[in-house]
Amino acid sequence: MCGIIGYIGQRKTAPILINGLAKLEYRGYDSAGICVLEDQELKTIKKKGMIAELAKDKNINNLSAVLGIAHTRWATHGEPNERNAHPHFDCDGNIAIVHNGIIENHQALKKLLEKHGHKIKSDTDSEIIAHLIEKFYKDDLEEAVIQALNLIEGAFGLAALHKNENRIVVARRGSPLIIGVGDGEMFVASDIPAILEYTKRVIYLNDDELAVIEKDKYQIKKLTGENVDKEIHEIKWTVDQIAKQGYKYFMLKEIFEQPEALLNTLRGRIKENQIKISVDLDITKIKRIIIVACGTSWHSALIGKYLLELITGIKTEVDYASEFRYRQPIVDSDDLMIVISQSGETADTLAALKEAKKKGAKTLGIVNAVGSTITREVDTGIYLHAGPEIGVASTKAFTSQVLALIIFALNTKQNQGEKIDKEIIRELANIPDKISQALKQDKKIIKLADKFKDAKNFLYLGRGFNFPVALEGALKLKEISYIHAEGYPAAEIKHGPIALIDKNMPVVFIATKSNLSQKIISNMQEVKSRNGIIIALVNKGDKDIKKIADHVIEVPETLDEFSPIINVIPLQLLAYHIADLKNLNVDKPRNLAKSVTVE
Ligand code: G6P
Repeated sequence: MCGIIGYIGQRKTAPILINGLAKLEYRGYDSAGICVLEDQELKTIKKKGMIAELAKDKNINNLSAVLGIAHTRWATHGEPNERNAHPHFDCDGNIAIVHNGIIENHQALKKLLEKHGHKIKSDTDSEIIAHLIEKFYKDDLEEAVIQALNLIEGAFGLAALHKNENRIVVARRGSPLIIGVGDGEMFVASDIPAILEYTKRVIYLNDDELAVIEKDKYQIKKLTGENVDKEIHEIKWTVDQIAKQGYKYFMLKEIFEQPEALLNTLRGRIKENQIKISVDLDITKIKRIIIVACGTSWHSALIGKYLLELITGIKTEVDYASEFRYRQPIVDSDDLMIVISQSGETADTLAALKEAKKKGAKTLGIVNAVGSTITREVDTGIYLHAGPEIGVASTKAFTSQVLALIIFALNTKQNQGEKIDKEIIRELANIPDKISQALKQDKKIIKLADKFKDAKNFLYLGRGFNFPVALEGALKLKEISYIHAEGYPAAEIKHGPIALIDKNMPVVFIATKSNLSQKIISNMQEVKSRNGIIIALVNKGDKDIKKIADHVIEVPETLDEFSPIINVIPLQLLAYHIADLKNLNVDKPRNLAKSVTVE
């Protein structure tokens, strides 16, 4: 986690760094800091809290430097305060560093450094790096960084300055870092949005690579010393695409963008009633699929299991990436691991992927962020093409992930020598339009949100394909409104959650048509007879459920296996409006970050 940006060129660096940090705030916002090199002096300003606090500091405007680095923090070691904010310095204040990642052996290194007289001022693991660089510094920052990093165990995206050197030295292992190539100016950042306003020409650093950046040149090396030639990628996203475009929050914009996002996921992938994707995989060699992911992506993974087993008949398992990586899983070369990740940078997902690769599994990524680390690690993959997702709570990435899983499952079926029913292809192509229809429930959902915004607890219940949708609905609500919410398979409530039901408990049922409809109605009766308040998601024209439910939200009908994509829309809106009516910062929920690049 944490966001890094650096600049070297001819322009005043401070406004560029502050602007870039604001675009990286989704990576954490516990504290922020900036350090520039001016008249051979390192000048630093740090603030606790969001980037707006740092931007408010009057001294920022007085900085005229054309070289600097900056950081927005998501705390892992040491509480979020000014002392622990980056940049961090060596003893003499000659070296400044910003760091994203975790130094696992920082305690041992700290002891060693203290023995040699270093005074460590913060509680962070990151400060150790500045002191190590100091220890090795002999008029060459690059060399000192290499020697320091040799001693470090753990993850880093790092940018370093020395007051006597007109360059930025950066390096990565495990935490993302890109270089932006401008005209007589260079940038470094954790992610593209930070620099997109200034350049669209980007180089992705790989693990164990280091770059020395000057205003009109750069040199990239491996940490072992060999030079590396890297391709410059032209970024297609526009600045406009990552702005809010009139919506109050990115999350709302991204909810309403879903018809277009999913059209983009489908684009070019249906031709002549067939699915066409270029996945480099011999499916006949695969005996089992394992899907790993975290958070919302894990919910789409669960739907993926239902889909893949139904459509392809291939045994499929789902694991939390954080569990998979440490439980000594049994994996071999007959297995396909699918990793699902919006950012393509989630540390646990990446580690699970590496573990499966080590054990010989084939790997496939379902990822949104083009060029991200996971996309470079997998054997093959499917991009979501959903466009940048900035709101911390994932919305359009979830629906496009489920769509990508459907596409993959149908494509696999074709590769197994079976034909796909034309009706299924037609229904698939209709999904974006059906999402637009579901979005029309917005006004009704605002009224419901107003009614339930003060509830203390919520239950979300669904069955089959819509059990993971219940989990996702509950996750959306708790992460942005801080209302306690739980998702359950509807039939499971009698094994515990039913004890919670009383007249104050809103229970959201995902009750669109399926072969389990009658069973869902029985589950509703169980809630009703205990005075629970039922909010039911139903297909248009459903009369039976309307008789039992206190409130209904109608969505268009589709195939049961496609229904999670449509059904999650009202749940995203409900969570959004409840949080907004409670005046909460929807895009930046407390304690959360968009991209979790530490375990
Ligand atoms: C964080 C985000 C979630 C996301 C999860 C996995 O927790 O807040 O929205 O679902 O990470 O991220 P990924 O980028 O791997 O999908």
